[in-house]
Amino acid sequence: MKAIMEKIISLAKRRGFVFPNSEIYGGLEASYDFGPMGVELARNIKNLWWQEYVLSRPDIVGLDSAIFMSSQVWEASGHTQEFFDKLLECQKCHQRFPQERIKGNICPNCGGFLSKPQKFQLMLETFWGPVKDSAHIVYMRPETAQGIFINFKIVQEVMRLKIPFGIAQIGKAFRNEITVGPFIFRKREFEQMEIEYFVTPPKDKIKTQKSKIKNKNQRVKNNKTPESWYEYWKKERLNWYLKYGIKKENIRLREHKKSELAHYATASADIEYHFPWGWSEIEGIANREDFDLRQHQKQSKKDLTYTDDKTGEKYLPYVIEPSAGLERPFLAFLLDAYEEEEVRGEKRVVLRLHPALSPVKAAVFPLKRNEPKLVKKAKEIFRQLREHLPVIYDDTGSIGRLYRRQDEVGTPFCVTVDFKTLEKDDVTVRWRDTMEQERVAVAKLVEYLKKQLWKTC
Ligand code: GAP
Repeated sequence: MKAIMEKIISLAKRRGFVFPNSEIYGGLEASYDFGPMGVELARNIKNLWWQEYVLSRPDIVGLDSAIFMSSQVWEASGHTQEFFDKLLECQKCHQRFPQERIKGNICPNCGGFLSKPQKFQLMLETFWGPVKDSAHIVYMRPETAQGIFINFKIVQEVMRLKIPFGIAQIGKAFRNEITVGPFIFRKREFEQMEIEYFVTPPKDKIKTQKSKIKNKNQRVKNNKTPESWYEYWKKERLNWYLKYGIKKENIRLREHKKSELAHYATASADIEYHFPWGWSEIEGIANREDFDLRQHQKQSKKDLTYTDDKTGEKYLPYVIEPSAGLERPFLAFLLDAYEEEEVRGEKRVVLRLHPALSPVKAAVFPLKRNEPKLVKKAKEIFRQLREHLPVIYDDTGSIGRLYRRQDEVGTPFCVTVDFKTLEKDDVTVRWRDTMEQERVAVAKLVEYLKKQLWKTC
């Protein structure tokens, strides 16, 4: 496991994907920054998710709620009472460990005895406004989901949404994790991409208001059960990862045992990726039933029920939640794309990222950086392409070195301007995966690249 993770961490830093945060001051544990390539890969992951679930579907809308919310939100959701880890402290070296990762009462660091488990609040807290007392404590949200639940009613009303429908959100979440890592897998500040999908509950949870019935047969049509929506979302989300290049053998669904369920869920499953240290969660899909809406209704004393104006049915919807992180899929995509191969006696490192994920779609180089005519023409082609695609221009090394650099960041195409270009107005296009080269007329270059990218995206 060490070897491949070391290679990925080194490439991530060397090529501008992920930098340790505050490194000039010695770093901040488990905190990382996305560099110029990383921010593009992260944005591509988020944009593809948003495109698939918000922009391409009539039944899901987006939201961007605040990170800080009334403390009552966390009272209602159960996080203030339930969102704890059990912590063990070594009596000798004072290192702390979450109980779930320790087998026995011996410190894995120094062999000393461990203390009895103590409760450790995972929510990070601060004060809202100028007064620092317990009445002004606010929490940094540990999940984006609650921002959706507290906006459920207003979103449904203003957008006139009919069940089933979903609300999607991408944003930062914070957890004061006791142990962190490896690398960006477990952090204290991370990002989530969550959908709360609101569905009709079982019949015994529905009241019918006879005066409001407009169409008696409607209920039969929408009668997909929460369980079938739960199955739907597990399949849908697993397929999304496969579509963007995660290898079949490296991804699986694992249904939770009753003892593993979070306090809000009655069924849940993890989408797991086969990381170098073993199978670990990259996304969770849960049936939260009406737990959150019921709790917020009780705490806020506001009516959060939904009324179907065709059938007269009134209820608190059930919720199916696909909840993905950003950093874990980011790492999984990097690991699955990373390959080393031998080319003419030399090692080539290539990131075979799905082109839709690649930070840069094409790089333009002059064959020789000291030839003003080639440089001028290459810059001209770069300016044309950047109107249409994320492209970069590079002339800071020999052609071989420039290719290697682009292979390592997963750029699907390299466009080289050579002396023939000046005569015939065409360029060499090299494909990352096969290293095959083709001459393409400059006039047709945009169309050609778009067509090749469309084929794979
Ligand atoms: N709203 C449900 C929820 O938050 P979760 O399983 O605790 O469920 C969902 O989190 C996803 O968020 C995880 O599958 C993981 O990808 C990501 N995640 C959770 N804690 C994380 C952490 N400390 N660092 C990085 N990602 C994390």
